[in-house]
Amino acid sequence: MARLEVTAIPCNLLRCDIKGPIMTLAPYPAARLRRLRASPALRAMVRETTLTPSDFIWPIFVRAGTGIEEPIPSMPGVIRRSVDKVAEAARQAHALGIPAICIFPYTAQDDRTEDCAEAWNPDNLSNRAIREIKSAVPEIAVMTDIALDPYNINGHDGYVEAGEIVNDRTVEALVRMALAQAAAGADILGPSDMMDGRIGAIRTALESEGFQKVTILSYTAKYASAFYGPFRDAVGASGALTGDKNTYQMDPANSDEAMRLVERDLSEGADMVMVKPGMAYLDIVQRVKSTFRVPTFAYQVSGEYAMLRAAAQNGWLDGDKVMLESLMAFKRAGCDGVLTYFAPEAARALGG
Ligand code: PBG
Repeated sequence: MARLEVTAIPCNLLRCDIKGPIMTLAPYPAARLRRLRASPALRAMVRETTLTPSDFIWPIFVRAGTGIEEPIPSMPGVIRRSVDKVAEAARQAHALGIPAICIFPYTAQDDRTEDCAEAWNPDNLSNRAIREIKSAVPEIAVMTDIALDPYNINGHDGYVEAGEIVNDRTVEALVRMALAQAAAGADILGPSDMMDGRIGAIRTALESEGFQKVTILSYTAKYASAFYGPFRDAVGASGALTGDKNTYQMDPANSDEAMRLVERDLSEGADMVMVKPGMAYLDIVQRVKSTFRVPTFAYQVSGEYAMLRAAAQNGWLDGDKVMLESLMAFKRAGCDGVLTYFAPEAARALGG
């Protein structure tokens, strides 16, 4: 008989640790597994995974101007808001029990340059939005994105020299960007660029500049995915992008490589790791969580959001139900939390 070794670890991890078959089943009819599904009360008692508003990080898009809330056509229900509207979003998130907001800037065309200097401008959109949120609702954790694409004339996350995305020079720029975000009051830095060595370089700079408490949620296993399409519209990078991101983002065929990346980022000082995209990569989430047991997040990206929304708008899917079912799947796979554009809506649906 196979023995199940039980230690005090959460049940969503336990499942990954089961080495052999679980011999706890009597033969039918003694065992009728439907008994425990017979009523809402029984189902609630044996539910293995829970979903709450505190599981969400809400990504928002900010732009220039005042009083603007502008829809993003490929992401129905998601808007770009001017910086003066950001505090309102933070209040809304806080009232709904959402602990964190992640800021993405829609940078004006004139501020996109080859040297990407706008990326570390203390008064760029992202840094202004950080200050707005921290002064309006200090309880909300503010997360940022670290990558050059919103500031880069060619839409890439790193500098391009002779057609190549160069690593080490990009890392120096990312460090500057990180320090500007930390100075603006960011709680969580999210390097999403996939350059080598950036976590260590950012961590070293944070330590030496007095930002010991700033956390890093690394986009560790970030795949070169077509599911980012609507996001690139949202930040105005789709038209700009020359070529693809295959020399820095991961090959969707790889899983072992994700393990090496997690190990590497943790060794360089990442506090939390992320898998991205989400729904098509839950096998990676489960492997990361069961192997490393560190705070693990996934990003339900723009294309995933767009698919569910579009189908719901056509009446092909029940929008509320697929939203909650998809988010529960992240938790079941082992996520501690999910970046999702559904955050406020899902929190409302959960009664937050
Ligand atoms: C850019 C970045 C991207 C996303 C988050 N940060 C796009 C990309 O890498 O091209 C995607 C998010 C989404 O699709 O919702 N560094």
